[in-house]
Amino acid sequence: MLAALFIMAGATVAHADGPIIIKFSHVVANDTPKGKAADKFRQLAEKYTGGRVKVELYPNSQLYKDREEMEALQRGAVQMLAPSVSKFGPLGVREFELFDLPYLLPDAETVDRVTDGDIGRNLFAKLEPKGLKGLAYWDNGFKQFSANRPLHKPEDFRGLKMRIQSSKVLEAMMRQLGALPQVMAFSEVYSALQQKVVDGTENPLSNLYTQKMHEVQSHLTISHHGVIVYAVITNRKFWEGLPADARAQLERAMAEATHYERDIAKKENDDALAAVKASGKTEVYVLTGAEREAMKQALLPLQAKFENVVGKDNLQEITRIAGETESARTKKK
Ligand code: LMR
Repeated sequence: MLAALFIMAGATVAHADGPIIIKFSHVVANDTPKGKAADKFRQLAEKYTGGRVKVELYPNSQLYKDREEMEALQRGAVQMLAPSVSKFGPLGVREFELFDLPYLLPDAETVDRVTDGDIGRNLFAKLEPKGLKGLAYWDNGFKQFSANRPLHKPEDFRGLKMRIQSSKVLEAMMRQLGALPQVMAFSEVYSALQQKVVDGTENPLSNLYTQKMHEVQSHLTISHHGVIVYAVITNRKFWEGLPADARAQLERAMAEATHYERDIAKKENDDALAAVKASGKTEVYVLTGAEREAMKQALLPLQAKFENVVGKDNLQEITRIAGETESARTKKK
């Protein structure tokens, strides 16, 4: 009875001032792991706060493109984002590019253990001085290469203009393959491919398919060469300024939305691959074991090149966790 009264009082107060608005901006489509998880968060946040908080979703760069959305969050024009961690370099936090090192993270389980562990926590701590607060990590599985010619071996990339996210590691990866990296906002990639401003790119399948990039790329190579990790972030002042009970209810909503996102990510990408194949618009090629090993060896030098930026200890820790995950999986068989 008393609790109900409190909620009513809380609700009354909130209604008097109007609900607390969270503008959640992101750059991908709704029918993607991130799009669906953002909507799940919206539903749960509104449910658990009894309507004291309203979440407004702005997908597909409706409000801001990659770089602008980070600035908009810092000045409080929006309250929540979930960018790929490959985009924190321009903020001056290059350590997140750890996740861009090709073939370093072999599976989603390792990614989750790394992000939920000390490495994930330490990286979030680096956002605090930028006025940002990390709430959770979501992942969107593996990236694949696409272009308008077959990409089966490192030398096939020579001279290609390849779109990348704003990451020095990804830039070095393309240069290591002899390609010309082009940093570009996600919302501009489809038309840049269509107009041949760039020749190719790398994406998780759910992004490739929902942005219709397969319609302007004749070849898709299943390379599993890297991962996309998202950091769900908020404006620190906004978050610390929330009523404590509302913040606790939002943290609960975020934890459940994160669980949901990780649950659906693999299926969303598998379904996207099936849809790309069914479209018949692009030739899908899976690297053989030997071809994958050749790609991995060609890109291995990047780990030594960036160990000072991403942390030698972090690299060792990830290799340890990946080994543990692998042996646990083998034992289960
Ligand atoms: C990209 O820019 O390719 C991705 O980070 C987009 C996204 O958020 O998945």
